[in-house]
Amino acid sequence: MQKGLFITFEGTDGCGKTTQLNKVKDFLQEQGYNVVTTREPGALDIGQKIRDILLHHEGFVADRCEMFLFLADRAQHVEAFIKPAIAAGKIVLCDRHVDSTIAYQGYGRGQDVQLLKDLNEIAVNGLSPDLTLYFDVSAETAQTRVGDDKDRMESAGIIFHKQVRQGYLALQKENPERIKLINANNSIETVFEDTKKVIIKLLQEK
Ligand code: TYD
Repeated sequence: MQKGLFITFEGTDGCGKTTQLNKVKDFLQEQGYNVVTTREPGALDIGQKIRDILLHHEGFVADRCEMFLFLADRAQHVEAFIKPAIAAGKIVLCDRHVDSTIAYQGYGRGQDVQLLKDLNEIAVNGLSPDLTLYFDVSAETAQTRVGDDKDRMESAGIIFHKQVRQGYLALQKENPERIKLINANNSIETVFEDTKKVIIKLLQEK
């Protein structure tokens, strides 16, 4: 049986990671791999409800409430979906995971980064991505790509998104083996060529 793999896609809103995730899925399926795609927050039934609060609640949401909701969604997603899929030999492509919480709730909202790392550990219960693709784009370009129809997180403003980007850059420096930076200011095809190179290297190593 094919060995399962866990690959996460990260970046600020508007970085283009979801487009790349779908292109990677098609590429891997063409090569005969058994691939599943998923996302955080909100992959499963409980997650859908959590996602609705996180992205569309109109009243006050305390920062620590937001933090626990993302973590609760992750804990459920990991146990109910990601771990069983990896155990079944699938390649799991996940749109956002642990690094989003450090970048958004830590660097963006100013929650304690070490505390978030510890809480992430509890949420994932031993799971770690084999590879994380971080799609780096300037905050200005990202804002243009997102457009005017923004959800609650996207509405947080350019300073917030600049801090989130700084968070991702710091995480990439701390974890250069796991997190690979892709320049996402380029065209979709150029970004995909760079992404494919990293994926092919991983498949050769594993
Ligand atoms: P989504 O519509 O899935 O955005 P995207 O297509 O950019 O992934 O919305 C998810 C939002 O939630 C996004 O703004 C990032 C944010 N988020 C966090 O703040 N913390 C987290 O732990 C996760 C998983 C997402």
